[in-house]
Amino acid sequence: MHAPSTPPSEAFIVEQCQRAADHIRAQAPGTWRVLLILGSGLGPLADAVGEATVLPYAAIPGFATSTVMGHAGRLVLGVLSGQRVMVMQGRQHFYEGYPLWQITLPVRVARLLGAEILIITNAAGGINRHFAVGDVMAIIDHINLVGMAGHNPLIGPNVSTFGPRFPEMTRAYDAAMIALAQQAAEEAGISLQQGVYACVAGPSFETPAELRFLRAIGADAVGMSTVHEVIVARHAGMRVLGLSGITNVARLSADEGEPPSHEEVMQAAQVIAPKMQQIIRGVLSRL
Ligand code: HPA
Repeated sequence: MHAPSTPPSEAFIVEQCQRAADHIRAQAPGTWRVLLILGSGLGPLADAVGEATVLPYAAIPGFATSTVMGHAGRLVLGVLSGQRVMVMQGRQHFYEGYPLWQITLPVRVARLLGAEILIITNAAGGINRHFAVGDVMAIIDHINLVGMAGHNPLIGPNVSTFGPRFPEMTRAYDAAMIALAQQAAEEAGISLQQGVYACVAGPSFETPAELRFLRAIGADAVGMSTVHEVIVARHAGMRVLGLSGITNVARLSADEGEPPSHEEVMQAAQVIAPKMQQIIRGVLSRL
């Protein structure tokens, strides 16, 4: 494992991506239009994939294994709602100790295998007072506190095979994809929230003062993932749809309700997974 402070060379990253892509191509030939990344407790969505080829991350060169409960750690390739999708059942997080180039490697591998679209999900804490546990939020923008503090996945030599040195992030979350998600949600009778996702490193949950800070800077939800993959996908010119499942709501003072826990997150994810599935299938069938 490379320490985050010593990013590898462009050639190394490209070679790692190509080796992984070659391995996947040999097992599941053809191109894959959509990469779907499933967050904490949302893995069951992959069970709906038809004609599936299942590859454990441990068998794919360069893929890090997920160490977190609720993340299966397998790649499922097949057909979902008429689209050829590559589904990551579980992801890696910065707090697990993996460097960001490795956490985001699967996005680049998907790009090499033809992916034009990233649909990325996560479990998040609700900060917006109008959000309730069980809500789904379409991400309209993000605040990458981890990146702003010096851990951007593009730090190091630019991997010019994929994109430019200074990619812009003005429209990181595709408005047309959000509109498709709204249509799909409406059709399924689900109310879809929209908001700004703030990324923190974790794994400790936020203090009440940190949550008040996040609300003050304009965050609607907070989580420990997603933005790294989104930045790498945008760098590579992919269109992105981000969906957060609200698994707990922020306690902005210490004596407000119970503190959050991973168990609470996993429980709420069971309510959220069917909603996410309906929205994602609706989006895929409209692409
Ligand atoms: N904070 C950070 N990450 C999370 C939370 C939270 O409250 N809930 C689920 N992921």
